[in-house]
Amino acid sequence: MNEQTPNDAVRRKVFSPARLGSLNLRNRVIKTATYEGMSPGGVPSDALIRHHRELAAGGVGMTTVAYCAVSPNGRTFEAQMYMRDAILPKLRALTEAVHTEGAAVSIQLGHCGYFSRNTTLPRRCSLGPSFRLNEYGLMSGVPFTRAMTEADIAQVIDEFGTAAAMAVSAGFDALELHLGHGYLLSQFLCPATNRRRDMWGGSLENRMRLPLTVLRRVRERVGAGFPILCKTNLRDGFRGGLELDESVKIAQALEREGVDAIVLSGGFTSRTPFYLFRGARPIKEMIEVEHNPFQKLSLRFFGNRIIREYPFKEMFFLEDARAVRRAVRVPLVLLGGVLSVDNLETAMREGFDFVAMGRALIADPDLINRMQQGEATRSRCISCNKCVAEMDRNGVRCVL
Ligand SMILES: Cc1cc2nc3c(=O)[nH]c(=O)nc-3n(C[C@H](O)[C@H](O)[C@H](O)COP(=O)(O)O)c2cc1C
Repeated sequence: MNEQTPNDAVRRKVFSPARLGSLNLRNRVIKTATYEGMSPGGVPSDALIRHHRELAAGGVGMTTVAYCAVSPNGRTFEAQMYMRDAILPKLRALTEAVHTEGAAVSIQLGHCGYFSRNTTLPRRCSLGPSFRLNEYGLMSGVPFTRAMTEADIAQVIDEFGTAAAMAVSAGFDALELHLGHGYLLSQFLCPATNRRRDMWGGSLENRMRLPLTVLRRVRERVGAGFPILCKTNLRDGFRGGLELDESVKIAQALEREGVDAIVLSGGFTSRTPFYLFRGARPIKEMIEVEHNPFQKLSLRFFGNRIIREYPFKEMFFLEDARAVRRAVRVPLVLLGGVLSVDNLETAMREGFDFVAMGRALIADPDLINRMQQGEATRSRCISCNKCVAEMDRNGVRCVL
């Protein structure tokens, strides 16, 4: 008799097809967005296409092209990719390459808000919910952030809609809106960075207004059936930032708006960057790849103090993510320190619909095929985080 153990059933679930909105994925593993550093001059390169093709060939259900700004002003730095007609042919080549390997492909759309070193910004001033010193751009000549006007807000909402429509025309199967990690929409959600007293700030309802309006606009532009994921923070990771009680309510609001899945993450890049990934801080390597002499100096002298360390633990967002799981029925993507078949199975047992992996797949792009064939049970990633520095050297890669 062919008896099926519960483990077999759970493992089969990970590696069987699943629906994400109207999209059929060949399995439940998503390569999460990890900035590739492969778009010189903001134009997707052949290396970027090869990178995602390799991930697709390695077995993931869906890969995600990382941070694409919705407009020139939404770039963290000048050489970053932003959505425009000129890059559509390259993006089409990328989506076709991924499809040839049998995977789906999503693109992460975001706006950096105040978190910018982009010196082409008008008056070298970044945009944010409220006026502030821009600690991230201070040394790069973008020292201040001005509070967005109604016209700025309307423009950003339009930019998200237009960028989303362009992504669909480039052949992407899904979109991921970046509501986390301290980028613009996360800055509006965060009580510490949104000090507005109008309808865009104050109560949680008001702080959610911009992200939800963006989601609605994107929905209008891409149509009812098109899969939209939102990447959100469980916690920002600092006092005064977003905490779990509010992030649960945000997930409930996104569910009411009809989002297709929520990717649960955390951390605020300008304040708690290593809350996002946990593990070692590759300060020496970060100094090596830093071009700005002032940033280099400040990293050398204050790096260990500015960049707080968070110990790595497998599935480090699981505990917080459970609270969201209990509160919503919308598909949830568990992320953060997922390294092994055991971790994938735990995610399924805990009721998550998909699992996202970043560093494990940078280290082993073919991990999912090998896990499925029983040739591997875990990634060789050791959370050294040197891939974080590599993205600014010659493109993201594992140094092992
Ligand atoms: C090199 C690198 C680049 C990243 N770039 C992005 C990014 O562009 N957008 C994003 O939402 N998260 C980014 N992240 C965070 C990852 O998406 C993910 O949230 C984090 O690495 C935790 O997942 P993991 O433990 O599976 O790596 C990046 C992480 C790494 C290591």
